[in-house]
Amino acid sequence: MLFLGIDVGTGGSRAVLIDQAGKVVASHATEHAPFQSKFPGWAEQDPEDWWRASQQSIRAVLAASACAPADIAAIGLTGQMHGAVLLDAEGKVLRPSLIWCDTRSAPQCDWLHAKLGRERVIELTCNPALPNFTLTKILWVREHEPQIFARIAHILCPKDYVRFRLSGVCAMDVQEASGTLLLDVTHRRWSIPMAEASGVPMQWLPQLFESADICATLSSAAAAATGLLAGTPIVAGAGDQGAGAVGMGILKPGSVSATIGTSGVVFAATDAPIRDPLGRLHTFCHAVPGRWHVMGVTQAAGLSLRWFRDVISAGAQNQPASYEQLMALAAEAPAGSDGVFWAPYLFGERTPHLDPDVRAAFVGLNASHRQPHLVRAVLEGVAYSLRDTFTLFADLGIPVRDIRLGGGGARGPLWRQIQADIYGRPVELLVAEEGGAYGAALLAGVGAGAWPNVDTACESSIRVAETIQPGHAAVAAYNRGYQTYRKLYPALASLRV
Ligand code: XUL
Repeated sequence: MLFLGIDVGTGGSRAVLIDQAGKVVASHATEHAPFQSKFPGWAEQDPEDWWRASQQSIRAVLAASACAPADIAAIGLTGQMHGAVLLDAEGKVLRPSLIWCDTRSAPQCDWLHAKLGRERVIELTCNPALPNFTLTKILWVREHEPQIFARIAHILCPKDYVRFRLSGVCAMDVQEASGTLLLDVTHRRWSIPMAEASGVPMQWLPQLFESADICATLSSAAAAATGLLAGTPIVAGAGDQGAGAVGMGILKPGSVSATIGTSGVVFAATDAPIRDPLGRLHTFCHAVPGRWHVMGVTQAAGLSLRWFRDVISAGAQNQPASYEQLMALAAEAPAGSDGVFWAPYLFGERTPHLDPDVRAAFVGLNASHRQPHLVRAVLEGVAYSLRDTFTLFADLGIPVRDIRLGGGGARGPLWRQIQADIYGRPVELLVAEEGGAYGAALLAGVGAGAWPNVDTACESSIRVAETIQPGHAAVAAYNRGYQTYRKLYPALASLRV
């Protein structure tokens, strides 16, 4: 029996095939076209491109594993969260999706807060209105493209659109739905008062499921397109943060992950919906029934390094350095980058500032600094930004027992060590960290009955490979550096461009 996980990310779509021991049998990623950013703060992708990349990755894992499609007992989906996919009554995509990092809908957040009161929004959904959340993107469309708004019949998030193409079914899990701002996160059901207040008809919203529930089966059209077997069950899955947490075994209070992908997320599992009264952390349903999670999000984590690679390291010859070259350069600079700091606000910032307009900056440059200082400052600035979430966890009494690293930030020794030193705690590296796709495959396994529940699935599949200890001297230096880093936001926020 095999289980297939599909992760519809920002940069690409990945398929991972695992067996009943949780071992990865095959995995393949297909890149997406870069997102379109017509104006500062805009980010759009074509849902058709996610479907193209998903089909390609599915076909590649089928070929690589040489398994029979009938061996795949269930499929799980995950993906970039929050994106608004708008479909008409025939299931046609009405416009490119406004994705998670699109921040144009700040005025619509203000409108919602003015209409309902910020406290009431938090009371109904556990979260304040943020431009990242799906609902505010829909409200932007209502205001600026009323002819499109008038034709909406279904609202989905990115991975749910791929499910729709796989099965013809509109469905969503409660973890993903938490990031729409339309869910009553406490009771794990759509919030009728929120939908009514914002003018979103309830029939636009897909049916809700818990993450390991089977909610659809593969259609014969999708079987022809992918090589999978018609009728294969599809579980609800979860957004990339929920499924990623399952894939890293972050299920119970005290266990925490720090994941640096395009965005950066510090994620803690909780057994109740713990709210930050100021709304700086997201409070969402977890991918496990009866559990929730809190998380803080850095908008441009891996994105900071990619931007540095493409824009700064490329130079006049337009020849970007490879990530390996960048890491080797960064290793030449001392901890603290000789006083250079990077404030990673390339797409505004979410945690803890909730400010879509603040801009990024290098601070502290002098003529002696070279590229190594700049690259290292980027790695450190991203880790400082994630530390801001640990600071909030401490303020709110959210326990942190073990920290597991995930995403690209866990892949090289330098960024791992920088994280241990900046968080001032040991960090764990897992044997196989395949991101959300792996978690989605585990959820598929639970749906297919291979494991009785998600806890058992994780216990039998996830192993710690290595624990990285923080260095004494580096921790002291970074504690001082963090005090300076904390002064960057207020200074930058006072400079409105
Ligand atoms: C989570 C978030 C990102 C996206 C893209 O709130 O916005 O993690 O899911 O990865």
